[in-house]
Amino acid sequence: MASPTGTENLGGIPAARIARLHADESATYAARRPASRAAAGNGIPGYLFGQPMHWMADWPMPFPFLVEKAAGATILDIDGNRLDDFCLGDTGSMFGHSPAPVARAIRRQASRGLTYMLPDPDAVDVGLLLQRTFGLPHWQIATTATDANRFALRVARAVTGRDRILVFNGCYHGTVDETFVRLIDGRPANRPGLVGEFRDLAQRTAVVEFNDVEALEAALSTREIACVITEPVLTNSCMVLPDSGFHDALRRLTRKHGTLLLIDETHTISSGHGGYTRRHGLDPDLFVLGKPVAGGVPASVWGMSEDVANRFAESERRREPGHSGMGTTLSANPLQFAAMRACLSQVMTPAAYEHMDTLAARLEAGLAAAIARHRLDWHVVRVGARVEFICAPGPLRNGGEAEHAHAPALERALHVALVNRGVLIAPFHNMMLVSPATRAAQVDRLVRAFGDIAALLKP
Ligand SMILES: Cc1ncc(COP(=O)(O)O)c(C=O)c1O
Repeated sequence: MASPTGTENLGGIPAARIARLHADESATYAARRPASRAAAGNGIPGYLFGQPMHWMADWPMPFPFLVEKAAGATILDIDGNRLDDFCLGDTGSMFGHSPAPVARAIRRQASRGLTYMLPDPDAVDVGLLLQRTFGLPHWQIATTATDANRFALRVARAVTGRDRILVFNGCYHGTVDETFVRLIDGRPANRPGLVGEFRDLAQRTAVVEFNDVEALEAALSTREIACVITEPVLTNSCMVLPDSGFHDALRRLTRKHGTLLLIDETHTISSGHGGYTRRHGLDPDLFVLGKPVAGGVPASVWGMSEDVANRFAESERRREPGHSGMGTTLSANPLQFAAMRACLSQVMTPAAYEHMDTLAARLEAGLAAAIARHRLDWHVVRVGARVEFICAPGPLRNGGEAEHAHAPALERALHVALVNRGVLIAPFHNMMLVSPATRAAQVDRLVRAFGDIAALLKP
């Protein structure tokens, strides 16, 4: 895992071998993509730094390919290369690309108006579906998980009259400014690299390590914390599972100290129907789900308990007139409702999760076997349909360990090598999603490709 001297983790592979693999695979990648190279090889004209979204430059390939189309769990580029897609828009398409019921709903809605600032009959159905699926009684619609988290945190502050929040080291909840706080040499500080941030975010945000109940209790006992925001499993660095009893302690301590608990299920919705919350009986005050909730159409939902809703209503009575600071014009539009209704009722079904879970277990076992066969000191973690291989020993217990377990040079080489063998995984870490459209043959191809690359790295 983390080198105590701070040198880069190479996963036990010589640096020269990694560099050679990356160079060879990058050349192969480029040679197979003349059309993408012509269009995007030197950046796409018209865009800042050559990409419509700055993180598209972070893909590990020499240049991103242009997508011709995607369907189910397959993606086709404009040069005719077909890939098994385990990235799935990093969760936005977790239930497959253009699931048929969602595509039908979009087609139907396309001729009925796309945004009204008014509810429609689908909105009525979606409210009930959200209650039924996730168990919380009161919901609001937003467009991104970032926004949903931001609004839920506002409610937490309004309800508790406190202005500080607590995050776990290594978290990511979207571009919510106040969550960009890290432990650096054991002290809270702004996450390095923030563009244009002018505040000391650590003034209003406490940060402790995941699974550190003692530090959590010390922070909460100040009784200054409005809300703890967390994923039930840290998924945004290398994946970190909660210790047994951690969620019980988190819930008990937040209640004891008058702090609300916001569970962000945007990634862990992979856990099963109703998310990790339902599967493991968590009892959050606030709940957020973005990305896949509308089958790939931009939408997010945030829910709250009866108690929080009552307290929020009370605080609304005291609020001075004016803008709440929450909400965006295009949120809760009829296209979102049509897509969410289809997704929640026909796509995110218990049967779909059963398929995803079974194949994800097959993927986990296949990768673990390849790691063992090649005597790599790596490990595999799985949360339902979300699987990750980590090029370091495990299990990891917190965000600090997860950060050190990253092996950027090795991961980049591996990712390009996987693409050349017909497999796309998430660009930022070694994350793979299994969708209802994914087939066993695709899982087996990924396992084989991973084994072939492992053999090159550790002959
Ligand atoms: C747990 C979690 N919450 C929130 C977000 C933000 O989602 P969005 O980029 O759609 O706002 C992400 C994005 O990766 C996430 O992983």
